[in-house]
Amino acid sequence: MSKRLIIGNWKMNPPTLAEAKRIIRSTRTVAAILEHTDVVACPPYTYISSCISKKSHIVSIGSQAVSIHGGGAHTGEVSAGMLNDMGVQYVILGHSEQRAAGETDEIISKRIIATLEAGMIAVVCVGEKVRDEQGAYLDILKDQIKHTFAGVPSKYAKNVVIAYEPVWAIGAQEAMIPEQVYETSLFVKKVFSDIFSQESAMKVKVLYGGSVNFRNAGDIIRVGKVDGLLVGRESVNIPGFKELLKAVDVVVL
Ligand code: 13P
Repeated sequence: MSKRLIIGNWKMNPPTLAEAKRIIRSTRTVAAILEHTDVVACPPYTYISSCISKKSHIVSIGSQAVSIHGGGAHTGEVSAGMLNDMGVQYVILGHSEQRAAGETDEIISKRIIATLEAGMIAVVCVGEKVRDEQGAYLDILKDQIKHTFAGVPSKYAKNVVIAYEPVWAIGAQEAMIPEQVYETSLFVKKVFSDIFSQESAMKVKVLYGGSVNFRNAGDIIRVGKVDGLLVGRESVNIPGFKELLKAVDVVVL
């Protein structure tokens, strides 16, 4: 069994470096005792260098953003090469909060390519905004995935992780029910298979994200049968994330 992958998306948290250091230290302490789970933390840019440990690779570090450009006159941008040079291994791309701020599938596709060309893992977020009874959301999801991966060479498919995050479940009270997570993650894999290949789809990790906490994480893995989780709020809540990681690690499938 390949290891489960739990990625913490810290978003624009915490407010101070001292707190960021406390969160990463605690995450590392718990990650060190896990047997079946790989852990990635994605802090804001400004905390990345303090969260990367030269000595300990127990928690990998990811970025929440990357430029489409390789370098040069692009004020405010950070390139994939710069991130990789610092030791960043993952980049979250296509998050609904970025899409809502105007990021298009075309731009996301360029960011994915920049990330993969630099040798990092692209964590690509997809998910419908709403669910309808007729199932139109499945077509919307399919189109979104196809457009997001347009132009991404198939040789890179092995370095892609998909984070299925239904937008309506992000920052909500409740996560999606695990049975629906199971159904939809299979659908996502099918679309990935149509774009790349069946072999790539068998290997790609599909994570679930949206209101995951220490109480529901185990069931989402057990019943939802996903390869891991993309966790927002709970990833910066020290006691909650600790329990979440332990709960995921003990699930036997
Ligand atoms: P929450 O876990 O806070 O709902 O956020 C989910 C998310 O957007 C992770 O990328």
